[in-house]
Amino acid sequence: MSWAVRIVSGVQSSGKLHVGNFYGAIRQFLRYQDEAESLYFIANLHSLTSVRQGELQRDLTREAAIAFLSLGLDPLKATLFRQSDVPEHTELYWLLGTVVPVSHLERAHSYKDKTSKGLTADFGLFSYPVLMASDILLYRADLVPVGKDQVQHVEFARDWATKFNVMYVPGYEPADPEGINGHTPGILKLPAAKILESTAVIPGVDGQKMSKSYGNTIDLFADEEEVKKRVMSIKTDSTSVSEPKPLDSPLYSLLKTLLSESQFAEMDSSWRAGGKGYGDYKKMLVEAFFSNFAPARSRRLELLKNLTYVDSVLKKGAEQAREMATPVITKVRHAMGL
Ligand code: ADP
Ligand code: TRP
Repeated sequence: MSWAVRIVSGVQSSGKLHVGNFYGAIRQFLRYQDEAESLYFIANLHSLTSVRQGELQRDLTREAAIAFLSLGLDPLKATLFRQSDVPEHTELYWLLGTVVPVSHLERAHSYKDKTSKGLTADFGLFSYPVLMASDILLYRADLVPVGKDQVQHVEFARDWATKFNVMYVPGYEPADPEGINGHTPGILKLPAAKILESTAVIPGVDGQKMSKSYGNTIDLFADEEEVKKRVMSIKTDSTSVSEPKPLDSPLYSLLKTLLSESQFAEMDSSWRAGGKGYGDYKKMLVEAFFSNFAPARSRRLELLKNLTYVDSVLKKGAEQAREMATPVITKVRHAMGL
């Protein structure tokens, strides 16, 4: 079957998947596997900038693959692979890096954000947007489903693809990147970011953006007690039971994200009117969590008993991905004179 649109995205294997990853990214991946040609990879080369133990890296990578499959990724519809199994990602990273202005990397939000939170500013972290752009451009992706924090990186990928094409494709015209009006089409295709606005930033238990790096997550596959503990730790203020509750509470946002539309409508009216305490709402959130994720949680336990299957999915995925990457990297090498 040939698709009109190709989608590429990755999730770092730097920790356990959480509610923010699911609603900000994975849920979209699952939807797209029915609508487009989709390639999803575990970005284990990216997570080398934060996971510094080999055994842990391997475990987290496999855990991430199991999580995707548990949550409904169907390997017959989408291609799932480990980034490190396709060496063309690192090759394009170098080749593309030769056209990337350092000033772009210096103004990358995520780099500034991570270093300000205390992550060491090593070359890997600094150059990470180049690897991410390569992940995308290697497959001539049309759309890149990501959370809001990643949009700047996708824009970099567009800029650098244009720069590469202008430099290395004679007859390329940035105003006609696909060559529809008679110019030479680019070797690298300009991707677009796709974000889910309604849940663009899921808050963590402390009210900041939910993120592995901030230790404020509710993990999808944590044990039951841990999930309850995390929900109970969601920061609330001293509003009394009878009073209306503030709409900027992380608890409110999380309920809005996890409840069905009709459940939310009911909850919303009591939230605005008063009469229920934060404890009641937290209980509601725990119930919603388990009703949404119970099927995936039990599929995960099954897959943990069948690791040979998981490894075979990743192996096949890498073969399919390499097949798609080869014509692109071949053209890039040739255009650059290699
Ligand atoms: P983390 O911030 O926990 O390290 P990642 O950077 O690995 O998460 O994010 C993986 C994907 O999930 C990305 O597309 C990212 O934008 C999305 N994502 C992560 N946290 C959130 C959040 N709190 N809200 C919405 N999307 C998120
Ligand atoms: N940088 C992304 C994140 O931290 C993960 C990622 C790596 C990615 N390569 C990508 C996302 C390519 C989309 C496309 O969330």
